[in-house]
Amino acid sequence: DWNMPDYISEAVEKIRAQVGTDEVILGLSGGVDSSVAAALIHRAIGDQLTCVFVDHGLLRLNEGKMVMDMFANNLGVKVIRVDAEDQFMGHLAGVSDPEQKRKIIGREFVEVFDKESGKLVNAKWLAQGTIYPDVIESAGKGKKGQTIKSHHNVGGLPEHMKLSLLEPLRELFKDEVRKLGVALGLPHDMVYRHPFPGPGLGVRILGEVKKEYADLLRQADAIFIEELRNTPYEATIVPGFDQDAVPKNWYDATSQAFAVFLPVKSVGVMGDGRTYEYVVALRAVQTQDFMTAHWAHLPHALLGKVSNRIINEVRGINRVVYDISGKPPATIEWE
Ligand code: XMP
Repeated sequence: DWNMPDYISEAVEKIRAQVGTDEVILGLSGGVDSSVAAALIHRAIGDQLTCVFVDHGLLRLNEGKMVMDMFANNLGVKVIRVDAEDQFMGHLAGVSDPEQKRKIIGREFVEVFDKESGKLVNAKWLAQGTIYPDVIESAGKGKKGQTIKSHHNVGGLPEHMKLSLLEPLRELFKDEVRKLGVALGLPHDMVYRHPFPGPGLGVRILGEVKKEYADLLRQADAIFIEELRNTPYEATIVPGFDQDAVPKNWYDATSQAFAVFLPVKSVGVMGDGRTYEYVVALRAVQTQDFMTAHWAHLPHALLGKVSNRIINEVRGINRVVYDISGKPPATIEWE
């Protein structure tokens, strides 16, 4: 167990000693690890750090704006935002196989990131939010693993850049990374967010990815997350139980929750008319390790409210279903 202010000042000293006056590049994804790494490195070396944030158009509602507000506007971190939505959508057009989609998203990500980073000709270091569990697991990545962490060891940046790796979170577990993030001034809700896959909404739109689908899914997903956050978790408190460990709301009571876009149309009624629109599935799971998971027994009133709101507020969705499959045999994501 460590004392946070001491930990931060030690980590800051270590980073300063390591990089001296060199410039550092960091790929910001919006996820917890790269965000905390950015905040820590910025604390240590300020403007010697430049972050590159690739917006692939498969982020959640307002996520790009949130990242820019938090880092560029609030913390004063130098961030280059690359709007690559058209490039990603272009390469994904006509592709429906999940693994093919992952490959394309991963490849384009590296392409865009390297092109942007290559412009920072004075950079000597590539910073990454690698954490201790990544270090242990880095041996074998199977089906998944489209993270910036795995690509960049492979290279692809201009030869003359020869970047060294800066990984200040290498010794930390996830809960320690979160505490560090809060201590560095990142918003609590951001630091305690559910995990979000590297390919983003790309694997939550079944089959071919289209901007139209991504826009519908973003709205439905945001409603689901908002209601989970706003619905208190009713726990039976046993005397002597650690009150702080009891989740405050259904967002905190679930390990991962999201909407999935199903590109099939079904019939509905609205007013005097008939509708023929898309379907959204809601997924919420509880798990310790993400290797096995239970579907969350969300209150029916919460599910009903989310369904009503999605159908009333998202033009183009007229049916909502709830996924009651455990892992195994289902996976958490639908692709
Ligand atoms: P599954 O769907 O296999 O997911 O039960 C287990 C966990 O892994 C996440 N996941 C991914 N993360 N790139 C990632 O960075 C991916 O391609 C990917 N696919 C799944 C998933 O969100 C869950 O937390």
